[in-house]
Amino acid sequence: MNYIGSKLSLLSFIEENIKKHVNTNVYSFLDLFGGTNVVSSHFKKLGLDVMANDIQYFSYVNAKAIIENNLDYTFSRLKEINIDDPFIYLNNLKGRKGFIYKNYSFEGTKDKEYQRMYFSDENSKKIDAIRLKIKLWKNKGYIQEREYFYLLACLIEAADKVANTASVYEAFLKQLKPSASKELNLIPLNYDVIEGNHMYLAFNEDAEELLSHVKGDILYLDPPYNSRKYDTNYHILETIALYDNPKIKGKTGMRDENSKRSLFCIKNKAAGYLESLIKRANFKYIFLSYNDEGIIPLEEIERIFSKYGTYSKEEIDYRRFKADSNREYKKAKTIEYLHCLVKDQI
Ligand SMILES: C[S@@+](CC[C@H](N)C(=O)[O-])C[C@H]1O[C@@H](n2cnc3c(N)ncnc32)[C@H](O)[C@@H]1O
Repeated sequence: MNYIGSKLSLLSFIEENIKKHVNTNVYSFLDLFGGTNVVSSHFKKLGLDVMANDIQYFSYVNAKAIIENNLDYTFSRLKEINIDDPFIYLNNLKGRKGFIYKNYSFEGTKDKEYQRMYFSDENSKKIDAIRLKIKLWKNKGYIQEREYFYLLACLIEAADKVANTASVYEAFLKQLKPSASKELNLIPLNYDVIEGNHMYLAFNEDAEELLSHVKGDILYLDPPYNSRKYDTNYHILETIALYDNPKIKGKTGMRDENSKRSLFCIKNKAAGYLESLIKRANFKYIFLSYNDEGIIPLEEIERIFSKYGTYSKEEIDYRRFKADSNREYKKAKTIEYLHCLVKDQI
């Protein structure tokens, strides 16, 4: 998924520099702002116990499916009702006119106050049909809870691939773009099964709350860098994940609820919130990804980190995330920092 702030292309920079700072007997890793969970997956593969957290439910669904789960998915109970391959079965379902069709497709909204075209008519019906079927399978006990999360995570990924947006869900395009005209294809997400006795957990909590009841060795922080809010940018993925028939509003059909806007998105609150996390964290090693355009000034981060132990930083030039390929950006590159802290007392 093309996710704002994804660290997919920075994994080796993060790994190398974390390894440089921690000693060998570290066992656990908390990815407090998991997003797509690529960092969690990477450290799971490296053999650490991993906890992945995010305030967005769709990110949690993904963490349940690929981080918390450590078994192969066999869907054995579906075989009892003669379904050998759930992916073939779900891809061939007849579309249904459910919440996504009625609110986010052109045909489903054409007589309403706002016309929207986030998905093609066919794909929106297919999303509804698959979403309803996997819920039914779970309710009837045909799939286990972990299988339910896995299929749902696959659906979220597949829906995102055919979304008719420039990249995020704050707006839709007026014409169907070529990738949105293709038929949605549900395919199995990659996941790792690691041998040995490990602990893998997924959480869906506010960062500060979670830190009040978990502890471990390495804490990795990758919070929002600026005022762009994840809940509005990805509102439809959240609705597919929750499928809770939310009240929605306006032209873009956003969820009409209190924003899960992070204090990291608010200029005069972000530094204070960062400090409260560092202070509270029951972790010996803390790493923060942040760039030179984030709303907390570099000197402020250095000041906060230095208060709590031995501080250093690493940096790398990075190509900017482009949410909108038509927009002119001031700089093509930013500097990505990894702030490192070995905490004095925990
Ligand atoms: C920069 S992204 C993380 C990207 C992730 N490292 C990746 O590679 O995909 C920041 C994430 O923080 C989450 N977030 C924002 N505020 C939060 C909070 N208070 N508690 C937990 N998660 C939060 C957002 O939902 C978003 O997924």
